[in-house]
Amino acid sequence: MLKTGKFKKVFSVSALVLASVVMVTASAQDAPPPTPEQIAASATATRQAVFKLLAFNLAPINGMARNTVEFDAAIAERNALRVAALAPMIADLFVVNDTRNFPVTTEALPIIWDNMDDFRAKASALEEAAKTFAAVAAGGDRAATIGAIRAFGSTCGNCHREYRVD
Ligand code: HEC
Repeated sequence: MLKTGKFKKVFSVSALVLASVVMVTASAQDAPPPTPEQIAASATATRQAVFKLLAFNLAPINGMARNTVEFDAAIAERNALRVAALAPMIADLFVVNDTRNFPVTTEALPIIWDNMDDFRAKASALEEAAKTFAAVAAGGDRAATIGAIRAFGSTCGNCHREYRVD
């Protein structure tokens, strides 16, 4: 009896899972393709996520400069290398989706798309500064690492000044 009960339960649960898999598959097929407005909104969310990740990785480094985060050269180096890995995606994300003509919620200035070479150069400057900083942090010296933060962090502001809403 007990065995049958267990079997029934397992069976009905897997039937339910199967049914929902079928439903998800069906709804994915039936869903209309995203509208240009939805694509623009999604692209905006994606690039903003990259900027959030940049800030997430820079925050502990800034904290070390302000003494609110305990100095850790390995974390400083690791986070700078993460920033260096993310930086090349910045311009790519703007190139693939020009959202100027869509009602997206954004702080990106429309002139980005008119000055893409300069915009990309500013992202490259961030990448280079992040790598330079990572090399200093790899040396493990606290004073040298703290002293190198400003040159690194200023490359964020250099782009925001021209291409982000104040
Ligand atoms: C090449 C230009 C450029 C560089 C370099 C850059 N940013 Fe930005 N950042 C922007 C633009 C443009 C936006 C607005 C994006 C939007 O709203 O669509 C932005 C937005 C942001 C946001 C707000 C994201 C959100 O919507 O919540 C944060 C946080 C941020 N940047 C942090 C940083 C940090 C930290 C760095 C350096 C490690 C950095 N950015 C480097 C151009 C840049």
